[in-house]
Amino acid sequence: MNRWCVWQGLLLGLVLLLATSPELRQVEGHEEHDAHYWQHMAHELLFEKKDYTMQKINVAKNIMVFVGSGMSQATVTAARFYNGGDNETFAFERLKWSGNARTYCVDSRVPDSACAGTAFLTGVKSNRGTVAVDPTVQRGDCSTLDAAKKLTSIANPDSGWESDADVTAAGCSSATTSDIAHQLIHGDIGKHFKVILGGGRKNFIPTAQTDASGAPGLRTDGKNLPQEWQQSKQGKNATYITTVGELASLDTSKVDYLLGLFDYDHLPFSADIADGSDTPALVRMVHYSLEMLQKPEHTDGFLLFVEDGNIRRAHGQNKPRKAFEQVRHYAGAFNMAKMMANEQNTLFISMNDVGSTLTLPGYAARSSDPTATAAGTSDADALPYLGLSYATGPAHSTYYGPGTGRLDPLKVLEGMPNALERTCPAVVPMAEGVDGGEDATVYASGPWAFMLSGGYEQHFVAHTIAFASCMDGACDGAATAVLSLGAVLLALGVRFLV
Ligand SMILES: *[C@@H]1O[C@H](CO)[C@@H](O)[C@H](O)[C@H]1NC(C)=O
Ligand SMILES: *[C@@H]1O[C@H](CO)[C@@H](O)[C@H](O)[C@H]1NC(C)=O
Repeated sequence: MNRWCVWQGLLLGLVLLLATSPELRQVEGHEEHDAHYWQHMAHELLFEKKDYTMQKINVAKNIMVFVGSGMSQATVTAARFYNGGDNETFAFERLKWSGNARTYCVDSRVPDSACAGTAFLTGVKSNRGTVAVDPTVQRGDCSTLDAAKKLTSIANPDSGWESDADVTAAGCSSATTSDIAHQLIHGDIGKHFKVILGGGRKNFIPTAQTDASGAPGLRTDGKNLPQEWQQSKQGKNATYITTVGELASLDTSKVDYLLGLFDYDHLPFSADIADGSDTPALVRMVHYSLEMLQKPEHTDGFLLFVEDGNIRRAHGQNKPRKAFEQVRHYAGAFNMAKMMANEQNTLFISMNDVGSTLTLPGYAARSSDPTATAAGTSDADALPYLGLSYATGPAHSTYYGPGTGRLDPLKVLEGMPNALERTCPAVVPMAEGVDGGEDATVYASGPWAFMLSGGYEQHFVAHTIAFASCMDGACDGAATAVLSLGAVLLALGVRFLV
C-alpha cells in the first residue's frame, strides 16, 4: 500500500468514526459527506500554490499592511461561522503564505497594541505601553527618553499620551515630549504622510474651541492641529474633512494631502454605524486612500497601513458579535484593497498585533450559534455552557451571581434581546478585558511573501517589509525601487489617535 492509500484508509476510519457522532448528523444532505468534495477542494489549492511558487520575484514596489487588532485565531474561526459557515473564507485567508509571529514584549509575555505595533513597524521589540522607543525606555517615564532612544516612527514613551494634556498630567513637559497627535502632524515621519484617516479629533483641537460635534478639544497648548497641518502644506491642496459626505465628494485628483478625522473620540464599531451617520465605513476609507496613493505621480510606490482597533475593543467589552461584524468589515476592506492592486509588485500582509482571551470550548454542533446556544452541559455543575467564553472582562458579573456561582447562560441571554449587545461569560471580572498572548497569525502574498511563513518573532515583519521593498538598500544592493518616505502612510489606527 502506498502512502496515499494509507492516508485514505486513515481518513475513511476517521469519517466512519465521526459519522457515529450525533453532531455530524445535524448537518445533512450536502457535499461534505462525499469524499470527493474534500479531495477536489485540496487539489485545487495544491495546483494554485504550485503555480504560485514558480513565479519570478520582483521588488515590492507597494506595500499594504492590514492589522486586525485583537483578531486572534479563535476570533477568525468563530467569525467565519458567524459570517456564513465554518467553511467561509475571509479574503485575507486566501493570501498564499502564512506564519506565526511571537508577540511577547521585552518586559511582558503578553503584549499590548503599543509594543506589538512598535515591533512590526520599527523592527525592534520594546516595553509594554511604549510606542517606537527602544527597550531601555519604561512606560510613562519621560526622564529616560532622549533622541537616541527613539526608533524611526512616531515615538512616545506612553501610548496613552494622545494630546499634550496627557503628557503634562503625567508630570512631563510637553515642550520636550511631543504627544502622539502633535507628532502625527509635525513629526519627522508624520509630516510626510499623504493620507491620514481615523478618529480622535479631541486630541487635535484646543480646549477653547469646539469641534464639529460641538464638544471642546483637549489640547491645553492652544494648538489647532488640523489648521496647522493645512498651513504647513503651503502651495499644495491639503484637505481636512470630518464627514463621510465630504469624503464622498472629494475629487482626489485635486488633493495632494488628505486628513480625515471622523469622530470626536474612537471611531464607532462597524456594527453601530447607522445609515446617514457621519462616519465612513472602513472599506470607503481604504478606497479613497488608494485613489490618493495610486496616482501616477507616485512613481516610487507607497505604503498603506490600515489598522482596525475595534475588534480588540469589542473583545474588551466581551461582545463577540461586534467583534465578528468588525472582522467582516475588515475582510471586506482588505478584499477591495487587494482587488485595486497588483500582486506582481505589491506585498500584501494581514495580521493581528495582539491576541484575545476568547476561547471556543467543545463540542458545539456545526449548526449552532456559539453566541446564543449551549455547546454542552458541564459535568460538574450540570448547567449548560456557551460555545464562546472569555478569560477576562466585564461580563463576569452578568454570568456569575454573588454567592450562587455560575448562572445558566441561556437564561441570562433571554434578558439580552439586542443580539449585537449580547456578551459571553468572562471568568475573571475586569472593567475591560485584557489582550491575549498567543502567537499572531501573519498572512501574506506578493513579492517575498514566503519569507513570512513559519514561526518567527513579530519584529521580523518590519525587516521583511524593508527587504522586500529594498528600503534603505536592505536587499543586498539589488534595489531597483526605493520606497520614499515622501510616499505614504494611512493611519486608520484608531488606537494611535484615540
Ligand atoms: C460551504 O459548505 C456548504 C455545504 O457543503 C456549501 O453549499 C457552500 O458552498 C460552502 N461554502 C464555501 C464558501 O465553500
Ligand atoms: C482642493 O481639493 C478640494 C477637494 O476636491 C477641492 O474642493 C478644492 O477646490 C481644491 N482646492 C484648490 C485650491 O484647488
